[in-house]
Order: sequence, then C-alpha cells, then structure tokens
Amino acid sequence: MIESTIPRQRHAVVLAAGKSTRFKSETPKLLHKLCGKLLVCHLLDRLTALDVGRIVVVLGHGSESVREALSDYPVDFALQEQQLGTGHATMCAAPALKGLEGSVLVLYGDTPLISRDTLHRLYETREKEDADEVILTVETTEPEGYGRIVRDGEGKPARIVEEKDTSPEEKLIREINAGFVCFRISTLLEHLPLLSNRNAAGEYYLTDILGLLRERGKKVVTVPAVSVLETVGINSREELSRVESVLRAEIAAKWMSEGVTILNPATVYIDPEVTIGADTIIYPGVFIEGKSQIGPRCTIRSGCHLLDAVLEADVVVDQCSVIRRSSVGSGTTVGPFAHLREHSSVGGNARIGNFVEVKKSEIGDGSKAAHLAYLGDATLGKDVNIGAGAITCNYDGVNKNKTVIEDGVFVGSDSQLVAPVTVHRGAYVAAGSTITEDVPPGSLAIARGKQVNKEGWVAKKGRKRDEGQ
Ligand code: UD1
Ligand code: CA
Repeated sequence: MIESTIPRQRHAVVLAAGKSTRFKSETPKLLHKLCGKLLVCHLLDRLTALDVGRIVVVLGHGSESVREALSDYPVDFALQEQQLGTGHATMCAAPALKGLEGSVLVLYGDTPLISRDTLHRLYETREKEDADEVILTVETTEPEGYGRIVRDGEGKPARIVEEKDTSPEEKLIREINAGFVCFRISTLLEHLPLLSNRNAAGEYYLTDILGLLRERGKKVVTVPAVSVLETVGINSREELSRVESVLRAEIAAKWMSEGVTILNPATVYIDPEVTIGADTIIYPGVFIEGKSQIGPRCTIRSGCHLLDAVLEADVVVDQCSVIRRSSVGSGTTVGPFAHLREHSSVGGNARIGNFVEVKKSEIGDGSKAAHLAYLGDATLGKDVNIGAGAITCNYDGVNKNKTVIEDGVFVGSDSQLVAPVTVHRGAYVAAGSTITEDVPPGSLAIARGKQVNKEGWVAKKGRKRDEGQ
C-alpha cells in the first residue's frame, strides 16, 4: 500500500496464522464459510467499511491460500513462520506498523460477529481517553477458555490471565477478554519486545501487555461489548454451525420484518448479501445464495437453489429448481425441476417448465419451453414455443455454436436444432425434425424420415403377440 493513501491515524492488525487444530481440516479455518462467506471476510468487511488506514493480516498456516483468497482486499500481509502465540504474531506485524502514528486495533481473525459500532468505539475511546490500551471485555456465564480480566483494588484492569494459567479463584471471574484490543501504536511497539513466554502454554501472549503497561503506570481502560454473541470466537466446527444458525436466523428475521413470508425460517438459507422484495413467499428447504436479488411477490417453492439469481416481480420458481447466475423477468414461471445455468436470461411472462435446462441463453418475453428441453448457447425471440423434448445441439465436440430462434417460432416436439443455425421469424419446425440448415421466415421445415404404412403386414407375416408379455 502506498503511504500517502493512508487516510487516518487508525490502523489494524488481524491475526490469522493459527493452526486451527480443532477444525481438523486441510483448509485453514479462516477459509471455511460462514453464511456463504469466508470466515475471515466477515471481520475484514466490517473493518474495511470503517475509515481504517493500514490493515496488516498476519499469516502462517496455509498462508498462500489465505493470501490468494484475500487478494481483492486492501490489506498488507505479514508472515509468522512459527506459531509462538498471539504476542509473537503481533510482533511479526510490527515492521509494517513502523512509522505510523495513532491507534492500532489488534483483532483475531476467528471472531466474525463483532459489530462495526464496537470496532469504532474502541478507536474512539483510545483517542478520547488518550489511553495506551483499550480492551473490549464482556461478562459471561461461560468464561471457560477465555482470558480472565483481573482487576485491582480500585477496580482498574490489572492483568489478563489465560485459562491455562488461572488459579481456582481466577477461574471464577466472569469478565473475559473478548480479543479486541486497541493500542497507541508507539506503546505497542515499545512493549512487544518485553513479552516473555514463561507461562503454561510456553507462548508469547499478547494479553500480557496489559500487566506490563500497568507496572509502568500507563493508561489502560476497558470497554464493554454490546453482547456476548458479538465476541464469540470460532474454534471448532460445532461453534461454526452454532454461529451459522444464529446468523441465518437474524437474516431471515430481517426479511420477515421487511414483508417477506418465510414459512419455516429454520430450514431456509439466505446469504447476507441477498435482497428480497415484499410479499415474496419462501417455502421450506430453499437456498438463496451469493448476491441474488429477488423481486416482490415472488414464490419460491421447496428444494430450490438460487445463486446470484435475479428475479423480477411475480416470478414463481416451482419445486426443486436451480437458478445460477441468471435472471428471470416479471411474471415468469420456472420449474418444477428446471435448471437455469450460467448467464441465462429469461424474459417476462415466459415459462420454463419441468426438466428444462437452459445454459448461456437469452429467452424473450412470452416464450415457452414447458417440458424436457435443452436450450444451450441460444437466443430466442418473443413468443417462441419449444415443444417437449426439443433440443439445441450446441456442441460439435470441439466448439460451442449458437442457435437463433426468432420471434413467434414454433419448434415441434423432439426436434434437434443443430447449431450454428437460425430459425427465422414466424417459422414452424415439424415435430421430430433434425434441423441443420437455416429456416426462412414464415415457412415450415420438416426434416425427418417419411412414414410408410404397410397395410396388412401383420397378418401376412403371421405374427402373434405373446399375451403373457
Ligand atoms: C485468545 C486470547 C484470550 C481471549 C480469546 C478471545 C491470547 C493469549 N488469548 O485466546 O485472552 O479471551 O482469544 O477469543 O491472546 N494466532 C496467530 N498466531 C499464533 C497464535 C494465534 O496468528 O501464534 C491467531 C489465531 O489464528 C487466531 C487468534 O490469533 O485467529 C487467536 O488465537 P487462539 O489460539 O484462537 O486464541 P484463544 O485461545 O482463543
Ligand atoms: Ca480463538
């Protein structure tokens, strides 16, 4: 990042080098998905939405894949080759902080629910109080596993004790270190080298800085989190699924409050960036993912899977249909069992019926393919009728070729349109035809074997059907 573009005296370090042992995965924990979005991106999206200058992400395990996954983010990377603790990880980011002034927020990449307001409050408190360290804390009935805040006689924070190092009395403390700490940059850089690893885990704890600062008479204040939930860290797949259900429920509740009917929210999966219009009805067992935009008064029945789908108003998507990166115009019905694949667009008041697959095709207003059809690399005009079992033969084994079917064309059942081919305006294709040449406007194309009826053939041959069959 170029120095002069750093807007404010607010910076951040995200620790993301840990081993994630409890995930038992070949993929780094932070690259697992939470509500369809990478775990680490939940935090980074909130952070980048604030006016933060430099963001340094500390990588270690799986560093290459994390780096690649974050290539679109305006962040710098630091490498922690050996995972010697959160204090050590922060030391690895120190060179990237040299020369910067103001505040640095140190965050743990596995805590995705923190609110933007809380992050903002940590910076603001650091500045207003001119504090050396601001620690986000929260009271919880389940403090196990977290660092406990030990306060002195005046109620000021004195030190943080990690679970492994707690005495029996300290174990009872319910106020925990949520894992979000904001430092005066110069204070952090001065004290990081003083950390030691003389503790039960043999690690350099970032949390030990508090004790060091208090011994030196520096100013440390705490800020309470809004809720325990926003501070939850994800250390196991069970925690991932628990947080996932909480987030899913929140998203569903939000859309219901905006006028969407969701018959059974516990079974519906709506990604955070999806939008849905009022009076849309969503049946149980529906997945709406990515950046899908659902218009008003749509109906999406059970078993449907929509990814980056755009539905205008009054669209019906019947049972078990899949729509990926495609759009559907107002009043159109899709399904049941329909498949709109990549980059297709279906116009308004159209019909894509059961067992119809559409790939990279444009289908005009009022056109219908009601049963068992394949439309690939095709452009259909308005009011086209595609009969049952008709297909475009778009692939010749080497290239994908285009089929053009103009306005008002009627394609009879079980026809094959061998691309590249054009059926011009208003033409008819007789059922069972294999069309290899363009069809002129307003004409009828028949391309099939001629029927021959051999009268009396059965009797002549003396054939008898076995009735038992
Ligand atoms: C940490 C805190 C604890 C706090 C809790 C809140 C310390 C010593 N303890 O414990 O006080 O209550 O978070 O969730 O800080 N990491 C590295 N390099 C390392 C070790 C960890 O980058 O060498 C990263 C991890 O990837 C993770 C984060 O730091 O994102 C936190 O590490 P983790 O092991 O999960 O710490 P906790 O035991 O949860
Ligand atoms: Ca953790």
